[in-house]
Amino acid sequence: MNNPLIRVEKIVKKYHRGAEELTVLNGLNLNIEDGEFIALMGPSGSGKTTLLNLIAGIDRPTSGHVFVRTDDISSMSESGLAEWRSRHIGFIFQTYNLIPVLTAYENVELPLLLTPLGGAERRKHVEIALYIVGLADRMSHYPSQLSGGQEQRVAIARAIVTDPTLLIADEPTGDLDAKSAEEVLVLLERLNIEFKKTIVMVTHDPKAAARARRLVRLEKGILIEENHMDGHSSSGLTDGINVSGISAKSE
Ligand SMILES: Nc1ncnc2c1ncn2[C@@H]1O[C@H](COP(=O)(O)OP(=O)(O)O)[C@@H](O)[C@H]1O
Ligand SMILES: [Mg+2]
Repeated sequence: MNNPLIRVEKIVKKYHRGAEELTVLNGLNLNIEDGEFIALMGPSGSGKTTLLNLIAGIDRPTSGHVFVRTDDISSMSESGLAEWRSRHIGFIFQTYNLIPVLTAYENVELPLLLTPLGGAERRKHVEIALYIVGLADRMSHYPSQLSGGQEQRVAIARAIVTDPTLLIADEPTGDLDAKSAEEVLVLLERLNIEFKKTIVMVTHDPKAAARARRLVRLEKGILIEENHMDGHSSSGLTDGINVSGISAKSE
């Protein structure tokens, strides 16, 4: 039997503002299989970020469950969840969220400081991650010395450096010009096809969504599955670099 990678089951998320109750997610279900590249669209304020935060274990649902394989992450302790997140989730933000006083190298190294890896091992992983995003020659640059597109690619290197189970991207091209956005999308597509990364990406841009292999829309608290996007074909980059090079697992 093959369990989906992530199973979101009857998720309800309510927020309270004073006496007012706002139901953002209303009994939502979603299965994410290994190797999928899902685009999540929906109007502003519809709950897309809320849903990503629940899948990533950053936030907890009002009711319902998020299973990873058979583990119910909604019932993990805070520390268990933080540990789980550091091993399984790579998060990419619209505004990159790099630390300005750290170099590209140091930003990418940060998630590895939570692992048992020693300095030499960390260096190997950081160099491979920056190489994959095409910024091996920018390691000692600070974020202010990089373009927006380069900053986002450093942020992607930081997200993949621990070889996470799931990459989550919240409007990753929202702040980028068309050319940089295209580069980021090509990179995400390559991470999916060549490195077999499972990706969930929120976007407003139909062109970005067209890169994904599945499209779901969030409307009125539930998900609507769009027709499979025909015309999308993989570019045949299936036998690429050995992904174990970016594995930070200590086993
Ligand atoms: N921490 C919070 N407290 C109260 N309301 C919130 C909180 N986070 C989000 N919301 C509300 O929930 C709704 C969905 O927000 P969000 O998930 O950020 O939407 P999206 O990412 O689709 O734009 C919005 O109406 C927002 O104002
Ligand atoms: Mg959002």
